[in-house]
Amino acid sequence: ARTAAVIPAAGRGVRLGPGAPKALRALGGTPMLVHAVRAMAASRAVSLVVVVAPPDGAAEVRALLDDHPLTGHDRAEVLVVPGGETRQESVRLGLAALPADITTVLVHDAARPLVPVDTVDAVITAVREGAPAVVPALPLADTVKQVEPRTGAAAGEPELVTGTPERSLLRAVQTPQGFDRRTLDAAHEKFAALEGEGATDDAGMVERLGAPVVLVPGHEEAFKVTRPLDLVLAEAVLARRRA
Ligand code: CTP
Ligand code: MG
Repeated sequence: ARTAAVIPAAGRGVRLGPGAPKALRALGGTPMLVHAVRAMAASRAVSLVVVVAPPDGAAEVRALLDDHPLTGHDRAEVLVVPGGETRQESVRLGLAALPADITTVLVHDAARPLVPVDTVDAVITAVREGAPAVVPALPLADTVKQVEPRTGAAAGEPELVTGTPERSLLRAVQTPQGFDRRTLDAAHEKFAALEGEGATDDAGMVERLGAPVVLVPGHEEAFKVTRPLDLVLAEAVLARRRA
């Protein structure tokens, strides 16, 4: 019964603006991906980390990780595989690289480099206690509006609101999401053909299988680096940790 973490890191980071692929951008002088790998390896339960690199960047990512070896109690084996066009495809390629003895899998965005180890461990514990899918989540700060699907011509125009879901019943989900390995494999096999834009959330695929998904408390520092302001916040969090 071993636990592995798959880290999808194959995205370009379009919303972050021009520059290197997002996972390779520096945070406190160290690539975001290296922070994410360390965050997974920091859990004593995680013995293998599979990094899913940009499709044409596996050799570069391998070299980068070799330049930043894991140390001390953060030791884990690190594999690098090339990713795909969508996050869903990248995760599927990462799962395909797992050895047979892995029974619990975490899927963790490279773009969430600062997740605390306590959050990682809480997810693993809930899976080991029998939940097939476990997701760290937080209540929303903002009220959310539903709108009509966007048509091309409507871009830039005011949008018509169709509803306001009750905020207290909504949760914003983070990673690492944790899974019984066979359940996640089954979900990715079943929905591989439906890739299209691809699922942005692995637990959502497990829901479509009909298996239960449960939430555990997430953490503010597990936020996703998506837009330029998120980099400012990430640098500030790192500086506070180092102080
Ligand atoms: N990801 C991936 N393969 C893809 C697309 C995304 O492995 N084809 C990964 C990203 O590298 C990231 C995670 O999925 O770690 C979450 O995706 P997101 O935050 O959307 O990152 P990007 O897709 O890189 O960013 P953007 O959508 O702004 O281009
Ligand atoms: Mg994306």
